[in-house]
Amino acid sequence: MGKAWIKQRKRDRYYRAAKREHFRSRSAFKLIQIQEKFGVMEEGWAVLDLGSSPGGWSQVSRNMVGDDGAVFAVDIVGMTPIEGVKFFHGDLRDVRFLNELVASIGAVDAVISDMAPRLSGNKSYDQARTLELAEIAFDMACTCLRDGGNFVAKAFRGEDFEPFLSRVSSRFKRTKAISPPATSKGSAEVYVVALGFKGQRT
Ligand SMILES: C[S@@+](CC[C@H](N)C(=O)[O-])C[C@H]1O[C@@H](n2cnc3c(N)ncnc32)[C@H](O)[C@@H]1O
Repeated sequence: MGKAWIKQRKRDRYYRAAKREHFRSRSAFKLIQIQEKFGVMEEGWAVLDLGSSPGGWSQVSRNMVGDDGAVFAVDIVGMTPIEGVKFFHGDLRDVRFLNELVASIGAVDAVISDMAPRLSGNKSYDQARTLELAEIAFDMACTCLRDGGNFVAKAFRGEDFEPFLSRVSSRFKRTKAISPPATSKGSAEVYVVALGFKGQRT
């Protein structure tokens, strides 16, 4: 990491706020902003957090659902434990791991995904891989959500984004693509927020 990058990061207000408020990532503020605007989680809910490490979204979810709720977190890399969060370590592209995960968590009220691949620097390749992970998150949502549940997933605006958005729209009552204010300037990153799962197809 270059010195300029480190300096710029230290100037970033969300990076500083995350340090101050003991969030593990600046990304925590994106979920807080999504929550403030759409109310994607409620107290007492069960939330599945995909691509959870280092744990900022899990911290926010845990604060939102409280002691009566449950947070299940999943990542291909390890995560330092968070009280009240059950962590599953595995690759969500691995079908066997996916099936075990689904069997052990049961139905949830919200599926949230901030999954992103390790970036290669090749924009269209990175966008396509991020969308692949968003598709996996969407499949998980369609498998694990109870009727009326909510879904959030990170994606990038690229050529395959609109078809993905319309597939998600067809399964939820209300769907929107937004870039929360905490998104880095100039980023093509976008979050799909889908409310009111219409339920399993018959
Ligand atoms: C932007 S980070 C998530 C940050 C997190 N939301 C937070 O607030 O701390 C993206 C995460 O997706 C995870 N990830 C990428 N590919 C994955 C996969 N195939 N299975 C599980 N997790 C994956 C990465 O390991 C990384 O921790």
